[in-house]
Amino acid sequence: MKYESQRIAKPYFVFAMMLFAGQILFGLLMGLQYINGDVGFPYIPFNAARMVHTNLLIVWMLFGFMGASYFLVPEEAETELYSPLLAKITFWVFVVAGVATILGYLLVPYAELARITKNELFPTMGREFLEQPTITKIGIVLVCLSFVFNIGMTILRGRKTVINMVLITGLIGLAVFYLFSFYNPDSLTLDKYFWWFVVHLWVEGVWELILGALLAFVLIKVTGVDREHIEKWLYVIIAMALISGLIGMGHHYFWVGPPKYWLWMGSFFSALEPVPFFMMVVFAFKMVKERRREHNNKIATTWAKGTAVMAFLGAGVWGFLHTLAPLTTTRMDHNLLLHTVT
Ligand SMILES: [Fe+2]
Repeated sequence: MKYESQRIAKPYFVFAMMLFAGQILFGLLMGLQYINGDVGFPYIPFNAARMVHTNLLIVWMLFGFMGASYFLVPEEAETELYSPLLAKITFWVFVVAGVATILGYLLVPYAELARITKNELFPTMGREFLEQPTITKIGIVLVCLSFVFNIGMTILRGRKTVINMVLITGLIGLAVFYLFSFYNPDSLTLDKYFWWFVVHLWVEGVWELILGALLAFVLIKVTGVDREHIEKWLYVIIAMALISGLIGMGHHYFWVGPPKYWLWMGSFFSALEPVPFFMMVVFAFKMVKERRREHNNKIATTWAKGTAVMAFLGAGVWGFLHTLAPLTTTRMDHNLLLHTVT
């Protein structure tokens, strides 16, 4: 660690791990409920456990991305973070909003939560992964804005590396696409159409940019391979991720009302989606093999390789298995399965 303000990453990582533990706990509970439907009855019904489980996943990932960015960007930009204080405030606002929302899911029936939070004034609740009360959604937007502002200002006054640029592009995309969670039309087709703008464009678009940037940063640190070499890989990987991921959105448009051409577009471009993930695996293993030094931090090296492999298996192979139009006619919930995994 070179800069004092990088320390702000720590509470983000700690809290992310706590939420991750919660996600696993509620996942196990749901597993038990599949075996015996009375487990947890009547205190934690399946629908509440599922909401908590999936929302915890999204929120711990956001905490992880934020912590990683606060750690990575000052070092890449070679300057202290623009405002460590703002990063601390953002952390606590996000913690309070997150915990209150999870408690809301657990302590009151969902309809009651909608009533308490005045959902009728600006209805956005009731959709998978976007179950958060409108007031929480507004909180998430404010947190993301302050986060992107802080990171953006740091990059602006420091060194503008490829890694920083790819990362901030991903983070801006993350903030922008979340805005579609506020668009809640009556038409179910329109609703589904734009709902995927958050879910798919997050997991198969901007999250890959963020993952690519984090991976490239770690690989430079642990292998000592030339930055230029790493950057070339990063460019090709994110180009492939965007080409396949953006139009690959079609794999969610097969049977929800959009035009038929999505059948072949979605199938074709989804079939390409494992490519950038496979490239990440090759990238990580090749860079480690060509390393110029033995770094003490073996865990970071293992993380870099392991993350690439797991992302390839989960998002690449598993995702590919259920995204061809001819295969999905009989299975209505493939999208859910895909995104629960990825
Ligand atoms: Fe998708």
